Amino acid sequence: MTRILGIETSCDETSAAILDDGTGEIVTRSLVILSQDVHRVFGGVVPELASRAHLTAIVPVVRRALEEASMTPRDVDVVAVTTEPGLVGALLVGLSYAKGFALALDVPLVGVHHMEGHLFATSLDAPDAVPPFTALLVSGGHTLLLDVPAWGEYHVLGATRDDAAGEAFDKVAKLLGLPYPGGRHVEALAREGNPARFRFARPMLRRNDTPADASYFDVSFSGLKTAVLHAVRDSERAGTIDQDRADIARGFQDALVETLTEKTVRAARAHDRQRVVLGGGVACNRTLVNAIRERLAQDAGDVAVFAPSPRLATDNASMIARAGLFRYYLGERAELDQGALATAPLPGQV
Ligand code: KG4
Ligand code: ZN
Repeated sequence: MTRILGIETSCDETSAAILDDGTGEIVTRSLVILSQDVHRVFGGVVPELASRAHLTAIVPVVRRALEEASMTPRDVDVVAVTTEPGLVGALLVGLSYAKGFALALDVPLVGVHHMEGHLFATSLDAPDAVPPFTALLVSGGHTLLLDVPAWGEYHVLGATRDDAAGEAFDKVAKLLGLPYPGGRHVEALAREGNPARFRFARPMLRRNDTPADASYFDVSFSGLKTAVLHAVRDSERAGTIDQDRADIARGFQDALVETLTEKTVRAARAHDRQRVVLGGGVACNRTLVNAIRERLAQDAGDVAVFAPSPRLATDNASMIARAGLFRYYLGERAELDQGALATAPLPGQV
């Protein structure tokens, strides 16, 4: 039996979780996620404020995760912590705490790449969400399309050339006067929108694209964001923004969803995968998940699409503990001079 404490502080969630790996079955004993509200008034994450908020939260969050698991620090066998990528000041809070914990209790420490955590998240709920699969990771900071033949083997097929999918949602939310983070507000507003009124160009999507084209799997959202900006300005000038807001949200979401759906289908087809696994905060978007499901059902009926529950889609320490367990069993250990990185390729990335 291995009880692993996971710690995540890469952005604006302070999170701790305990997983228990018994006889081949991994059980979540506790998961505590504290979302930092301080950034709302600024409309985006302020790094220095994030680090300070992690500092005040990390001790009570870990204590609470232990309490919920009915454990004391001495019951922890391994500590896993996010070391990259993310805000370095924020990462260092979790990393320093994890080093202190591991040193004081004389247990091994494992460093985890945040995006590898997102890849493992869905498998905590859905035991079949395991390789080989096509993965679409869509969060506030990243958009990655991967082929995953096995855990630890990550073939990056495509990525965003500019804004991440979540970032595009958040920026469009801001233009439409919605609160931060705006993804779910845009989705809710788009539900009331007329799809025929604003048809924005689908970025990086041409019917005659071939796998040999550099843009076959890549995405780009900054042009779409600018198109939305112009639509909002025109509508404001015409004095019709109140009536147009939902239609613009719908037009934006349709363009983004169609692009991500098409690229994901291309990836699954190119590698003949029967499973598609989604991850990251934008995987909370039901319109996206349903579009990918419907498209694959039309195309090749036997492809299963796995999306994480909202709690596991957004940043959480369970996914860090799960990826950490994988790395721990591979024999990987972090030393006390382990650093934190703002950007880093996935381990095993080719
Ligand atoms: O994975 P995550 O919690 O944080 C990062 O690692 O970046 O993702 C947060 C992002 C935000 O941009 C948020 O607006 C977006 O996920 N998001 C959504 C939805 N729920 C959260 N985007 C679209 N539709 C949603 N329902
Ligand atoms: Zn994330």
